[in-house]
Amino acid sequence: MTISGLIAEAKAAAKNAYAPYSGFHVGAALLTADGKVYRGCNIENAAFGPTVCAERTAIFHAVSEGDRDFTAIAIVGGANGSFDKFCPPCGVCRQVMAEFCGPAFMIHLGRADGAVKTFKLGELLPEAFDMTD
Ligand code: THU
Repeated sequence: MTISGLIAEAKAAAKNAYAPYSGFHVGAALLTADGKVYRGCNIENAAFGPTVCAERTAIFHAVSEGDRDFTAIAIVGGANGSFDKFCPPCGVCRQVMAEFCGPAFMIHLGRADGAVKTFKLGELLPEAFDMTD
């Protein structure tokens, strides 16, 4: 799976975003070590607190299907499904990534114009608190 292919999967995932409160649509596509892709979108709730981000939806989707070995995630997001700016993962999602992925896990942020910004999880969440602590 190429980076642009994974970003295309994230854009497809964003089409299912349920975001009637924020209008901010996010899609994520998680790549497993054996080449499978799990999609996720953000799912909001009238009580706000139960809202789940696209990244966690994708990770929980994969874990619930028995996959835990991940190499990369692609993320797109923006107001009303426009991806004019990069959408970096929130702190809670970074912590959930750190539960299953090491510091070399790749995070690809996609934009509508085709630009891509790539980070390692170790850059976005240095010194993560994890099970070794
Ligand atoms: N959101 C995500 O899905 N992922 C992120 O990394 C940032 C925020 C969602 C949560 C909420 O539904 C909306 O975007 C606005 O915060």
